[in-house]
Amino acid sequence: MEIWTVSNQKGGVGKTTTVVSLAGLLAQGGKRVLMVDMDPHGSLSCYFGLSPDDGYPSVYDLFERFHLKQPLSPENLLHQTSLGCLHLLPSTTALVTIEKKMGLKDGMGRVLQLALGEMKDKYDYVLVDTPPLLGVLLINALAASDKVLIPVQTEFLAMKGLERMMNTVHMLTRSLGKEVDYTIVPTMYDRRTHASTESLRLLRQQYEGTIWPAMIPIDTKFRDASQAGVTPSQFMPSARGVRAYRTLLKHLTIGSLSVSKQAV
Ligand SMILES: Nc1ncnc2c1ncn2[C@@H]1O[C@H](COP(=O)(O)OP(=O)(O)O)[C@@H](O)[C@H]1O
Ligand SMILES: [Mg+2]
Repeated sequence: MEIWTVSNQKGGVGKTTTVVSLAGLLAQGGKRVLMVDMDPHGSLSCYFGLSPDDGYPSVYDLFERFHLKQPLSPENLLHQTSLGCLHLLPSTTALVTIEKKMGLKDGMGRVLQLALGEMKDKYDYVLVDTPPLLGVLLINALAASDKVLIPVQTEFLAMKGLERMMNTVHMLTRSLGKEVDYTIVPTMYDRRTHASTESLRLLRQQYEGTIWPAMIPIDTKFRDASQAGVTPSQFMPSARGVRAYRTLLKHLTIGSLSVSKQAV
């Protein structure tokens, strides 16, 4: 099982879209995939028809039960999506209280890692969606991950936040004592605008080696797919945004194959 976290401290950069798109493509390719919604806003859970204000079983229960020293199996929390082998561990708005109520003491930074460990034979891939802030939830996601994807909108303001984000992630993973493989993913690229072409050029210059060499274009089909509650590749397999995520997936999985070969 491989665990990928999609993260950026900025909102609206395409984190949730990246999770749904890659998870959908993996599941359609025959992989067993779990998506985990660690964002109290619950956009990913909304995507699949849930209302995060409702009290359904969610990631919150994992934390609460761990805190009460009565750990719960994550299997009791799963939600079926529009694809057979694509499941969701949803979030609820209660997740926002975890920081205050439970904090990071007593192993609370590794709740997700332990829970996913229990399911390592059930899934090939786990994709974790995170909130746009630094805290217990992001720490849990990073502690569990093999790979971190950082979507960055191709515009100047988003680039400013990226350096801060990279520093935070480096600091956290160092304190967790682990090596994480990062990939910056340029998103919402509009080749007609100077802001997009110029910021992409600068991103490539500054993050050579860490940045995925292609980009995800602006594509209105992502919004349409989210309204329909199905993954973008189910909604329109030939959409250019879907084709771009397919290329990204190839890059990420071929990358991991060559790393494991080197390890052997
Ligand atoms: N490549 C894209 N082209 C056009 N719209 C996009 C693209 N990626 C995401 N969106 C839309 O932008 C909005 C924010 O994206 P989202 O993935 O929710 O960002 P985040 O999770 O970082 O807040 C959503 O309405 C989504 O449908
Ligand atoms: Mg989101």
